[in-house]
Amino acid sequence: APSDPDLVERARAAKARLGEKVFVLGHHYQRDEVIQFADVTGDSFKLAREAAARPEAEYIVFCGVHFMAESADILTSDAQRVVLPDLAAGCSMADMATAEQVAECWDVLTEAGVAGSTVPVSYMNSSADIKAFTGRHGGTICTSSNARRALEWAFGEGERVLFLPDQHLGRNTAVRDLGLSLDDCVVYNPHKPNGGLTAGELRAAKMILWRGHCSVHGRFSLDSVNEVRERIPGVNVLVHPECRHEVVAAADHVGSTEHIIQTLEAAPAGSKWAIGTELNLVRRLAARYAPEGKEISFLDRTVCFCSTMNRIDLPHLVWALESLADGKVVNRIEVDPETETYAKAALERMLALP
Ligand code: 13P
Ligand code: SF4
Repeated sequence: APSDPDLVERARAAKARLGEKVFVLGHHYQRDEVIQFADVTGDSFKLAREAAARPEAEYIVFCGVHFMAESADILTSDAQRVVLPDLAAGCSMADMATAEQVAECWDVLTEAGVAGSTVPVSYMNSSADIKAFTGRHGGTICTSSNARRALEWAFGEGERVLFLPDQHLGRNTAVRDLGLSLDDCVVYNPHKPNGGLTAGELRAAKMILWRGHCSVHGRFSLDSVNEVRERIPGVNVLVHPECRHEVVAAADHVGSTEHIIQTLEAAPAGSKWAIGTELNLVRRLAARYAPEGKEISFLDRTVCFCSTMNRIDLPHLVWALESLADGKVVNRIEVDPETETYAKAALERMLALP
């Protein structure tokens, strides 16, 4: 649906009043009505770098989800304020690993005698607490666009990796990019005693995968791939690495949101694509490339939007911008200093990866 012209005008006016003071970041999964006001769009890696590179902006308005705004707060100076237009924009995957559960997991690894040789690697899609845990134990953060480099680095530091919280990104990267086997991976279930693993299994594992997943990408199945190949002969299947391993194995191409966009940009006219990632992005890409004769469809029509990404809508953005323009800071995301110190160490290790 087209955006409400009155709200569009108000957002424009509030942004104009704020001028250089505000910088609006927009993740690729945001609604069209919101993304039109982003000063920069990107995947989570690009947005983390952009936030860190804007010391002049007094306010960073983050159109994305909570963990992204936390990361922006960690990477910006104390004087800069990060605002999330709707505090209910969380991430179900990030919520699957709590600080208590991860501390307990580390105790289990210590008990099994493997903690000293295990390096934590945490996906950006995790709370600041989990990032701090990672930093405290000498690990790194990764995103879907640098997971391979993060794992290569980690295997230079230790014998095995504890990968949090997305089992699929961990497994897909280990198997596809590092050539490990599925048998090298075990899944730690925080709801079972000792994660459901024996000390022997932990010792033998190269990848200890946290039992977390994305509720959107986890819904694409092997059937989705088979069905689309039948429906659209000659289609190229391109999926995000948060998809399940069998989906990634059956796809033609795999990559982060930024990679998906670049692949479609470079695709020849007349090519056909089925994309397995969030619907807002897929719809936008389909509309953008249709005039060039690229036929882009959604991998599975029964999968829907990321509901928390969609919490950020134009009314919330207008409210946040108008409040800031009136000198009132609303919905500030602020990580406490101790958590920030360790989380920052882990994030900076990621930013320094080759
Ligand atoms: P990227 O932006 O790193 O591709 O991550 C996708 C995602 O699910 C963000 O929530
Ligand atoms: Fe979280 Fe998945 Fe939504 Fe990304 S798409 S914010 S990982 S639930």
